[in-house]
Amino acid sequence: MQEPGNGEAEVNEEFGSYSARRQRKSPEEEERLEMEHFWKIINTFTCYGSHIHERVNRAERQFMSLPKSQQNMLPNFHSNLDRIRKCADHNQEILQLIVNDSTCMFENKEYGNNGHKKNIPASTFDMDKLKSTIKQFVRDWSEEGKSEREACYQPIINEILKYFPKDKCDPSQINVLVPGAGLGRLAWEIAMHGYSCQGNEWSFFMLFSSNFVLNRCSQINAFKIYPWIHQFSNNVKSVDQVRPVYFPDVNPHDLPYNPNFSMTAGDFQEIYTENNSWDCVATCFFIDTAHNILDYIETIWKILKPGGIWINLGPLLYHFENLANELSIEVSYEDLKNVIIRHGFLIEVERESVRTTYTVNHFSMMKNFYDCIFFVARKPE
Ligand SMILES: C[S@@+](CC[C@H](N)C(=O)[O-])C[C@H]1O[C@@H](n2cnc3c(N)ncnc32)[C@H](O)[C@@H]1O
Repeated sequence: MQEPGNGEAEVNEEFGSYSARRQRKSPEEEERLEMEHFWKIINTFTCYGSHIHERVNRAERQFMSLPKSQQNMLPNFHSNLDRIRKCADHNQEILQLIVNDSTCMFENKEYGNNGHKKNIPASTFDMDKLKSTIKQFVRDWSEEGKSEREACYQPIINEILKYFPKDKCDPSQINVLVPGAGLGRLAWEIAMHGYSCQGNEWSFFMLFSSNFVLNRCSQINAFKIYPWIHQFSNNVKSVDQVRPVYFPDVNPHDLPYNPNFSMTAGDFQEIYTENNSWDCVATCFFIDTAHNILDYIETIWKILKPGGIWINLGPLLYHFENLANELSIEVSYEDLKNVIIRHGFLIEVERESVRTTYTVNHFSMMKNFYDCIFFVARKPE
């Protein structure tokens, strides 16, 4: 990685962070599992193309099983599938560019080489994560994601500007942490305003991809991706499925001179243990990723400086709700708010229904939206 200060996002790998916190392992075992996980994700990136081809082949086989008379009624079926195959091949090229960089992207960790485990079919779970990561490019780094970012990121940025006005403080002295930073756009936008900002992310899918955008893309809309080819339902027109999206919509290297902007890799709760160290913690679509949301609140309380603020926007779609054998504490916003207050936070701003989307496909017949909670909570002096 190049030196930060050239607009490069520095990535620090927190050793052993991936391994399940609740089952303590020896450092060697943690290291081995981490390595295995790393290569499993690389493998998922590598297998993407063949996975999509298999899916398209299945559609073709099913079509071919129809009576000829019905097949004749859909003269474009084969050519539409061929277009999807071409788009999948293109996506695979982009994914390959992303992984090419990934073994050397961490500042303090070497991942060696994969050795014997090449091209084992990826699990459906991992492949779904990769497809979601591809859609995340739209949300964070495309023109098409602009309205979504306005709804999700702008309210957070507005509060930072309000609480730490640039005419009353030196923004570079204000430390903002963005846990669960995804592809890094919110953290980057905060750094663009001159604040010192660190994004933190746990998923290798996101880390590889944000590394690529932040460090390897310097020309506006130089790349294209086909994020919607995985969606076979709710297309108004066949061409909607093969619609390209261009990225990045901005030059990520356009950060102000000598920015203090970095990304860390690892579990937010394991990395951030130092008391009273952040002026602001900004969480966007993040707090519901917890096994135990109360732990997250405790960590945020602990790491905020007295007088510091926690800005949150997002729903409460508990990520572990339907996963067997995983701890998942699900509470309503009403109960969560009581916990926040009982910790000692002062809720200074609150809106209960901020309408947003998450990686929405504007052309789809189905669009989900969230009525998010939004608040600013202060840890008193
Ligand atoms: C729903 S996504 C939101 C991403 C981004 N904030 C946005 O609004 O687009 C939640 C993110 O949190 C990350 N995450 C989940 N648990 C985490 C943890 N314990 N530490 C750091 N990141 C975590 C996930 O990998 C995922 O990228």
